[in-house]
Amino acid sequence: MAFLFALVVCILVFLAVVSYVHYARRRNAGEGQGGYGGGHEKPSPSSKLPPGSMGWPYLGETLQLYSQNPNVFFASKQKRYGEIFKTHLLGCPCVMLASPEAARFVLVKQAHLFKPTYPRSKERMIGPSALFFHQGEYHLRLRKLVQGALGPDALRALVPEVEAAVRSTLASWDGRVMSTFQAMKKLSFDVGIVMIFGGRLDERRKAELRKNYSIVEKGYNSFPNSLPGTLYHKAMQARRRLQGVLSDIMRERRERGEPGSDLLGCLMQSASRGGDDDGAPLLSDEQVADNIIGVLFAAQDTTASVLTWIVKYLHDNPKLLEAVRAEQAAVREATDGGRRPLTWAHTRSMALTHRVILESLRMASVISFTFREAVADVEYKGFRIPKGWKVMPLFRNIHHNPDYFQDPHKFDPSRFQVAPRPNTFLPFGNGVHACPGNELAKLEMLVLIHHLVTGYRWEIVGSSDEVEYSPFPVPKDGLPVRLWRENRTVDRKGCESDNVEDIIV
Ligand code: HEM
Ligand SMILES: *[C@@H]1O[C@H](CO)[C@@H](O)[C@H](O)[C@H]1NC(C)=O
Ligand SMILES: *[C@@H]1O[C@H](CO)[C@@H](O)[C@H](O)[C@H]1NC(C)=O
Repeated sequence: MAFLFALVVCILVFLAVVSYVHYARRRNAGEGQGGYGGGHEKPSPSSKLPPGSMGWPYLGETLQLYSQNPNVFFASKQKRYGEIFKTHLLGCPCVMLASPEAARFVLVKQAHLFKPTYPRSKERMIGPSALFFHQGEYHLRLRKLVQGALGPDALRALVPEVEAAVRSTLASWDGRVMSTFQAMKKLSFDVGIVMIFGGRLDERRKAELRKNYSIVEKGYNSFPNSLPGTLYHKAMQARRRLQGVLSDIMRERRERGEPGSDLLGCLMQSASRGGDDDGAPLLSDEQVADNIIGVLFAAQDTTASVLTWIVKYLHDNPKLLEAVRAEQAAVREATDGGRRPLTWAHTRSMALTHRVILESLRMASVISFTFREAVADVEYKGFRIPKGWKVMPLFRNIHHNPDYFQDPHKFDPSRFQVAPRPNTFLPFGNGVHACPGNELAKLEMLVLIHHLVTGYRWEIVGSSDEVEYSPFPVPKDGLPVRLWRENRTVDRKGCESDNVEDIIV
């Protein structure tokens, strides 16, 4: 959910600064609970704020600190204060939660006390009626509709479409150097479009959506203002054109009298399904459009950045790659060397590949944390979280905590041979707002890995050890990779044979 984490970079920077400033202060002044709120403790334990520093950061050190690993700062704060600590970010008092129990408290057990919170400018750009901005009845109703289009039956039917998108992505990469992230963005966009429009969208419309959407994206992280010519202004204009295109498509569907069973169809028929939703009015075209744009947004960069990390992790672990290749070679045999399409059942027979995906989700933790806002004064383990404060469950910290994942910086899919402890593995969040697209995202990963390792070889161009934020973490420059078709097939044992006849694309 790019919109949600658009501030990732800034916040990591601010955190880093906050923690550094605090550290320097403590060293200099030997003070205890520093800064803002520190002196206002009441004797009752239930009115105690969490520990931490509210020190206001200054930007002078931003770049310097950012050039270091921000996670080190997160971790040191956690070490100093424990699983829950307060800070002050971008003008908001904030409580960070770095334990599985605390994340569960906010996202599941007491979810009704914590509402989603996003900058207004982002809300306007995605669409204020998109489900992730809401809670309560409206959210639940939309969530059911979205889940319907992403459920098991829908996904089964999508396998051939995902496979076609993967084949076409790889074919257009063949023999060239490309940014992996850019290639994967196109893939996740194409899959998103099929999920939303059921593969019935003509090429002209698709191109219109793609172009306008990319303008929205470019302005998404720019400074919000209404001056003509700025990225933000252009993005808002493109946003309106997207809405126009979507309205046209909806009108045509209504005229034909066939809304369809894809996501757009599910949203359009929102009132006529009976059951729990009986009596609820149809969603307006505007509400439908906000949710379509929102889902596209939530689906694209998240999936693309994890796919990019998978390409890197496989590349960096040659032994593992050979084992994955052997597993996938068996699947390729089952599809008659690629002559027959992959099925849902095939994707359920990729145990090692699945563990690679889980470990990639953990290692990369592309959604490092999320935000909520307390709607009332809330008490957690004797600490008070005041109404109006932001709370941030820190997924990445949990995923990189050696108490839950031994040797956390090592890429080791075998750790997932045993299920992780409850609430310690949250790449898709938890509770009422947990990701409804997680199975689709994993399906894309399985199918991509299948075709990548059975049909291609690749090498990374340049160094890939630095991370950049897009705003999700991805390897530097989106991981430039040269990829070429492997014209030899691989048998079960991972031995290559020169059986050229087996190569069907
Ligand atoms: C690897 C890829 C993905 C990751 C890591 C991811 C992660 C997440 C996370 C952590 C949340 C919860 C955020 C929160 O609680 O504040 C979320 C929500 C959401 N995701 Fe994903 N996601 C991915 C792919 C997708 C895809 C492919 C789709 C759609 C097809 C999607 C649609 C959504 C939607 C609609 C929500 C909001 C749900 C709600 O508020 O009820 N995501 N995602
Ligand atoms: C955006 O959408 C409009 C339709 O509203 C279309 O005419 C235009 O070509 C699209 N592309 C761009 C780049 O604006
Ligand atoms: C694979 O194809 C390339 C050209 O595409 C060719 O140079 C090479 O000899 C082929 N290798 C085998 C083993 O067939």
